[in-house]
Amino acid sequence: MYRSHTCGELRATNEGQEVTLAGWVQSIRTHGAVTFIDIRDRYGITQVTSNKPIDASKESVIQVKGTVVKKPEANKKLETGEIEVQAKEVILLNRSAPLPLDENATEETRLKYRYLDLRSSHMQKNLILRHKATMSVRKYFDELGFLEMETPILGKSTPEGARDYLVPSRVNQGKFYALPQSPQIFKQLFQVGGLDRYLQIVKCFRDEDLRADRQPEFTQIDLEMSYVQEEDIYSVMEGMIARVWKETIGVELSIPFARMKYDEAMLRFGSDKPDVRFGLEIEEVTKWAKATDFSIFKEAEVVRCLKVAGDFSRKQIDKLTDIAKVYGAKGLAWVKKEEGNLAGGIAKFLKDVPVELKDNEYLFFVADSIHVVPAALGAVRLHLGKELQLIKEKWSFLWITDFPLMEWSEEDSRYVAMHHPFTSPQEEDRHLLATEPHHAKSKAYDLTLNGVELGGGSIRIHQRDLQVEVFNALGITEQEQKEKFGFLLGAFEYGAPPHGGLAFGLDRMVMLLAGAENIREVIAFPKNKDAVDLMMDSPSSVSQAQLDELAISTRKK
Ligand code: AMO
Ligand code: AMP
Repeated sequence: MYRSHTCGELRATNEGQEVTLAGWVQSIRTHGAVTFIDIRDRYGITQVTSNKPIDASKESVIQVKGTVVKKPEANKKLETGEIEVQAKEVILLNRSAPLPLDENATEETRLKYRYLDLRSSHMQKNLILRHKATMSVRKYFDELGFLEMETPILGKSTPEGARDYLVPSRVNQGKFYALPQSPQIFKQLFQVGGLDRYLQIVKCFRDEDLRADRQPEFTQIDLEMSYVQEEDIYSVMEGMIARVWKETIGVELSIPFARMKYDEAMLRFGSDKPDVRFGLEIEEVTKWAKATDFSIFKEAEVVRCLKVAGDFSRKQIDKLTDIAKVYGAKGLAWVKKEEGNLAGGIAKFLKDVPVELKDNEYLFFVADSIHVVPAALGAVRLHLGKELQLIKEKWSFLWITDFPLMEWSEEDSRYVAMHHPFTSPQEEDRHLLATEPHHAKSKAYDLTLNGVELGGGSIRIHQRDLQVEVFNALGITEQEQKEKFGFLLGAFEYGAPPHGGLAFGLDRMVMLLAGAENIREVIAFPKNKDAVDLMMDSPSSVSQAQLDELAISTRKK
């Protein structure tokens, strides 16, 4: 028997027992004839004393056989602090070299030696939390009669909006599978197949530029239901979130969650995932701006502004301007009230301002297209919210509803789906599909939390003719429809039930539960910002023989 107890288990009630522990040497120090060792595993730390010298370095794995004795004075910092183990024998199971990292290690070092980084209590806490959240989700949906069903990983390109990861086929040379960006079509086909209430906790793959809340492979809590409308989905999902929050971190959330329409979110907060924990709302002032003498305002499609109290230096204003520019703004015009008068920035062009200003209040304006203005001011707003510490810590869930069905993509010179092409338009907007599809609203919804998109979904199209109409509006040719989605259109000919669903980002959810800033902190073996696994050194080159088998030749860039 390697161990009779874990390193977090022994209490005063175990006094006098002969025990065997196994674990890592957390610390080792000698006082006179006595050696003190803290032995650690994921359950805790136990103090061991030995009268014999011990030859073990920190992080070596040891086995301790000894007697539990009560300490005269408990160590309050340890859960096992009432006792210590007096060793009869300490066996070195495996010696550790000095660790290449400590608590101050850079993320690069942590990722390279992830197997050691995982020993930290921080990573262990996060991964245990992730496990709890996952279990809680599974139990919840099981109780509601959901079926956990798997879907293929070697699939076919589906249009989820990112680039696909492709896998070459050896047997069918020159052909490729695509790793799923999500199981979207499969889960719809489960509904056609009569398997109402699908759940899968599933890996998805997207070749996109990475950010703090994005990984090339990530995990979705993926769901689909038959015979549902938006309200059914909202209430099932709210129940899941409430249960997870309660079972993992003991927080009672109040449901139902607030809702906001997409248009309102973009207007007031400049984002479809607004952080509504603070005000600082954007104001629409186009009409006023067009009547000023400032040519930039007169010529712009839209002008909006933010009112902020403070004292901003030139440097701070430049910083805000740079943020606005990242989102396509050409500048950030400003003006402030000083001793009752407008001053600074573009004051000389203005007779008055459209919102009431007190002394030391600023207005920051962006004048541009309807696409640029909300995004730029939304980003400035978020930055100011953090900088000025306006954000109150709380769990601020918000459904965003009534998304547009599609938007024009300059890059692709065609309409692209806001959610995905299987999302149903709102009935009353169907007539817009052929003429002004960008004005049609959809039955898509997102659940946001504190400015992060946690999940998204929609009521789907389940009729063949409507699906074809939407494909047509998206500029997907008849040929492409047949090649890419022939099986889906086929399925819709045979009594497809009305259905809808949603997918949550599990990594993002656990990140927020853990209070982490980055999803890499809640993923055991993540990729870095350049989509590289620093530990395995992947992606990597492969042998010529492997390439030959696949009939693939590579070329230098
Ligand atoms: P969507 O594309 O909105 O919807 O994805 C659902 C949720 O998955 C998470 N997510 C990510 N998390 C980490 N890294 C990424 N690269 C990443 N991309 C997405 C987000 C997001 O809200 N099939 C549809 C769902 C549906 O319609 O039912 C879908 O995939 O939290
Ligand atoms: P300029 O006349 O280019 O020196 O700009 C005067 C001020 O207007 C500067 O503070 C610019 O940052 C700002 N500005 C320029 N273009 C825009 C724009 N499209 N929207 C808002 N502010 C702008």
